Amino acid sequence: MFLAPPKPSQASNLQTSLDLPLDLFQAIADLKKEMNAVILAHYYQDPDLQDIADYIGDSLGLSQAAANCQADVIVFLGVHFMAETAKILNPDKLVLLPDLDAGCSLADSCPPDRFAEFKAAHPDHLVISYINCTAEIKALSDIICTSANAVSIVNQIPADQPIIFAPDRNLGRYVMQQTGRDLLLWDGVCMVHEIFSERKLIDLKLIHSQAEVIAHPECEANVLHHADFIGSTTGLLKYIQKSDRQEFIVVTESGVIHQMQKMEPLKKFIPAPPTSNCACNECPYMRLNTLEKVYLAMKNRTPEIILDETIRQAALKPMQRMLAMS
Ligand code: 13P
Ligand code: SF4
Repeated sequence: MFLAPPKPSQASNLQTSLDLPLDLFQAIADLKKEMNAVILAHYYQDPDLQDIADYIGDSLGLSQAAANCQADVIVFLGVHFMAETAKILNPDKLVLLPDLDAGCSLADSCPPDRFAEFKAAHPDHLVISYINCTAEIKALSDIICTSANAVSIVNQIPADQPIIFAPDRNLGRYVMQQTGRDLLLWDGVCMVHEIFSERKLIDLKLIHSQAEVIAHPECEANVLHHADFIGSTTGLLKYIQKSDRQEFIVVTESGVIHQMQKMEPLKKFIPAPPTSNCACNECPYMRLNTLEKVYLAMKNRTPEIILDETIRQAALKPMQRMLAMS
């Protein structure tokens, strides 16, 4: 059987993986000081990784943290498009992603060449892209948005301006419903959020009749239909703190439940079931990062995010517009 050789950056990390320190938490803390690094983590990371972060947030919060970052090194515990966004905002800093294969099915669903053709076919449209896309798609966009600010950003655009919304059709539909605007949608989807089962959710609601259903807008419309509250991961976390209910059915990647449980230890959080009996409510890309890989990435200062400067500069403009409009 032919095995593809690991990429050079990862090969160097594999060579040292036998010499891991016993206390990885302490070793990472020591390296962080030594390197003047900051650790940024998304709520979908493994609990251990959330616990070593200096800042945990949703995509908007993480972009804002990256934009204001004073450290020399950013260790990004999330997926590739997130670390890439940090690099777009910080070209002179070393941005490390513990596993370069931590991609995103939604970002993959929008290839730049096909999107450029789509855009060219609608030259009068403004392009608003969800941050879950590659730097090349950002470079083809006028404004970036996240799940936390998509509705507000679309509401700030004059009513007669036609808009392309990419790449997530589910978030796009939700924004259309919230704003009353007609958006031209790219047909992309997140493999984690499209897998929740409406039938199983209805069954779960019957068993936990006092529970509120809280959902991420990347879910399909038939699932969102059952939600008492819809929001970004940060939005969901704020909601469970202010609600007086004691039980919540959580319809998003199950990593977010770690923070929910820490914030509200007496409340109960029930992960919504996927269609099959898999662990599909865990993002397989997010979960590629591990404590060991974080240590090795910091020790070896690789794998790092490297961007073409022309693409970076073009992607920076719509990012800056989003930050100014948020
Ligand atoms: P937010 O971070 O905006 O809640 O989005 C979740 C997500 O799918 C990130 O990949
Ligand atoms: Fe991408 Fe979905 Fe994973 Fe988020 S949860 S990183 S959108 S595949």
